[in-house]
Amino acid sequence: MAPSESSGARLRRVNERAGGSGSVRVVLRDTHHPREASRFALQWHLTHACEMHCRHCYDRSKLSPLGYADAVRVLDDLVAFCARHGVIGSVILSGGNPFLHPSFFEIYRAAIERRLGVGILGNPVPRADLERLVAIAKPRYYQVSLEGLESHNDSIRGPGSYRAVIDFLPVLKELGIESYVMVTLTRGNVEEIVPLGRLLAGRVDHLCWNRLSQVGEGAALGAPSRDQFVTFLRDYILARVTAPHLMFKDNLVNIPRHQLGLPLYGGCTGYGCGAAFNFVALLPNGDVHACRKFPSKIGNVLEDGLEAAYQSDAASAYRRGSTACDGCAIRSRCGGCLATAHGSGLDALRERDPYCFWDERDEWFPEARVAEIPKDTRRAILAEHRARSVAVSGTDGSTSCVGIAEETGSAVVSPEKV
Ligand SMILES: C[S@@+](CC[C@H](N)C(=O)[O-])C[C@H]1O[C@@H](n2cnc3c(N)ncnc32)[C@H](O)[C@@H]1O
Ligand code: SF4
Ligand code: SF4
Repeated sequence: MAPSESSGARLRRVNERAGGSGSVRVVLRDTHHPREASRFALQWHLTHACEMHCRHCYDRSKLSPLGYADAVRVLDDLVAFCARHGVIGSVILSGGNPFLHPSFFEIYRAAIERRLGVGILGNPVPRADLERLVAIAKPRYYQVSLEGLESHNDSIRGPGSYRAVIDFLPVLKELGIESYVMVTLTRGNVEEIVPLGRLLAGRVDHLCWNRLSQVGEGAALGAPSRDQFVTFLRDYILARVTAPHLMFKDNLVNIPRHQLGLPLYGGCTGYGCGAAFNFVALLPNGDVHACRKFPSKIGNVLEDGLEAAYQSDAASAYRRGSTACDGCAIRSRCGGCLATAHGSGLDALRERDPYCFWDERDEWFPEARVAEIPKDTRRAILAEHRARSVAVSGTDGSTSCVGIAEETGSAVVSPEKV
């Protein structure tokens, strides 16, 4: 590195190398588990303001958002952090509804100017707002949420909200923006996700789900039983063979992957649970959390800066994850979900994800069952996996579905939104 090179120039160089044939220097190393990350994502909940009031929402607290000048400080801090560690940075702008931040477009522009990968987790917005974004630069992806088929969705997200998403997806398509639909898995929709996925084939680029975290107003909703969860997982794995837009984010899918002798997926953030490893969440007031889905504060970005938050003892404890996972063969791509454990009333740093079925994996995914899967289906799973490996190594990896973050061998896809 030239002595006078700015951190922005260095990040640009790292990003360019990642996009080209050179390999990226990997310097985010976990001292607890054998994993190394070449990418880092900041999920920034710019504002809690929202025109909706979903019944499962983890946080409706009123926090004052940062002003534009502080927001730029945050972006510069993120760029400096990534440059210092030699990793590719991305920022995921979320909310509430991120467009309701008074300086949303200016912050978006500032992130693009800093060459960060920018994704959006938001609500449907008017076409003119999307066109304004695209005039600056296309976001890497735009994620909206549904909670199931129309009637269940509207009972959680409010009347008309299903239709609003269905009408919004073609606009994303017309503007060439990669689209995601995220579903929060609950007891009430566990049987609707596969049908919803099939219904959305051709309308959305990717559909993904994550487990309900029983925190905030989400504590009032029922979570599926473990048996319901594993049955759903089996159905989803098989449904995906003919519906490749169905994506995985949940770390526990790596239990059957391991059972079936397939390469492990990246799980939630590309490296299993990436809380405080290659991923942190930022609240509107500047508080940094290891993960948005449960209270896990590690510092404040304006008072401490990102580096100090990342190096704090609290961050180290979340990075280490649950001691109950120690010694597990798939720990570096799993770790369960700390947020689910926390929401279930467990000590997330000492007890296991309550849905973990590692000890019963032979019952759920016995080798005999593998033999039961028709040969053609097995072939299709492997062919699909190979095709993805090629696609993954052919991209700059900083787009998309991080959670989905399917990792093959050493090829890493980016960190993901949660
Ligand atoms: C907080 S929202 C922000 C973006 C946008 N307003 C939306 O609803 O998609 C981000 C994601 O978190 C999910 N979410 C909200 N509360 C949750 C909870 N208690 N557990 C798990 N996911 C939750 C939402 O459904 C959504 O997919
Ligand atoms: S023990 Fe932990 S790392 Fe292993 S499968 Fe269960 S949750 Fe995942
Ligand atoms: S705690 Fe759960 S949602 Fe959060 S990063 Fe870890 S696996 Fe993902």
